[in-house]
Amino acid sequence: MKFDTKVVRAGINPDPTTGSIIPPIYETATYVLPEVGKDKGFDYTRSSNPTRQLLEENLAAIEGGRYGCAYASGMSAVDACMKLLKSGDHVVSSDDVYGGVSRHFNQVLTRYGLTFTYVDTSDPDAVRKAIKPETRMLWVETPTNPLLKVTDVKAMADIAKERDLIYGIDSTFATPAFLRPLEWGADIVMHSTTKYISGHNQIIGGAVITNREDIYNELKFIQKTIGAVCSPFDCWLVLLGVKTLSLRMKRHAENAQKIAEYLEAHGKISRVSYPGLPSHPQYDIARAQMDGFSGMISFELTGGILSGKALMNNVRMCGLAESLGSVETMITHPATMTHADVPAEERSARGLTDGLVRLSVGIEDVEDIIADLDQALEKA
Ligand SMILES: Cc1ncc(COP(=O)(O)O)c(C=O)c1O
Repeated sequence: MKFDTKVVRAGINPDPTTGSIIPPIYETATYVLPEVGKDKGFDYTRSSNPTRQLLEENLAAIEGGRYGCAYASGMSAVDACMKLLKSGDHVVSSDDVYGGVSRHFNQVLTRYGLTFTYVDTSDPDAVRKAIKPETRMLWVETPTNPLLKVTDVKAMADIAKERDLIYGIDSTFATPAFLRPLEWGADIVMHSTTKYISGHNQIIGGAVITNREDIYNELKFIQKTIGAVCSPFDCWLVLLGVKTLSLRMKRHAENAQKIAEYLEAHGKISRVSYPGLPSHPQYDIARAQMDGFSGMISFELTGGILSGKALMNNVRMCGLAESLGSVETMITHPATMTHADVPAEERSARGLTDGLVRLSVGIEDVEDIIADLDQALEKA
């Protein structure tokens, strides 16, 4: 099956009882056993659920993986990956990660004896230097939130293999429509399904996909033990969203390319980061490993923070909102919203300035999005 067919059909067959073309929602906590010691494949929904299983199979198929686990949020998916480690283990992580991820690493997981070193993973030498004898995992976000840095996924796979590290990728921004990290040697792909995968701002969810049976068995054990699972109804909503993933991503990317070019040519904009612009420092890597550049842009205005705020306060159609990856265009101020919990010094060290604006380009008519930005930039 080709990718565009998989998103619509992988694992989804007409319901054997009724022929329903859309799978039913098994909104149940438990399952009646035919006799002691026997079940029909399910015993309790924290452990497994038919609707969740369908989503897990569907997501695994579109990532080109064998196994999937669906979680209650992207953060619980990240947490499950980190629970593959034990106290004393060290993680080398991309420096520019979503603010909630660095909050989790720095303010929660360090309490349990994990340690983290943040490096620019677009620089393989910096990654090599950061590896210690106790390093067990390499955690990469690509493209990153919010600076859109791109990491060479294969180069990192070579390092991870050489040093026997578990190699995980947060591929939320790319989605399997544009990047399939397992094909480039990653052990784990993680998604906030809240974003492009579900696509309509309708749920909070997460997923982890792997080809490694040992990792899957451990993840499954952690999932059923801790129970941060995606509800049957939310799994069903994600399944509906996935059907249009390919179509949506093409439109997100097409719109984002035009908007990035418009912003780059605008006199009030000093810097634009979009992996599809030749000015992007990792443009060649992005072109080599991705089938499209997705829909996220970040930029700074020549007038700095005040102009940025004026822009964000004056958009009419674009929503000033925390999230991303939905059909609606959304604009965000990372320093006070998504990355507010990253200490100010750390933000400035990684180039996340107070004037940075993040745009999640939707699938509306691009002329309407540009017209909205244009009228707001007039006032900025
Ligand atoms: C790249 C990335 N990873 C993980 C997360 C966390 O996902 P969730 O909000 O679904 O918990 C986010 C949320 O914005 C994100 O942008």
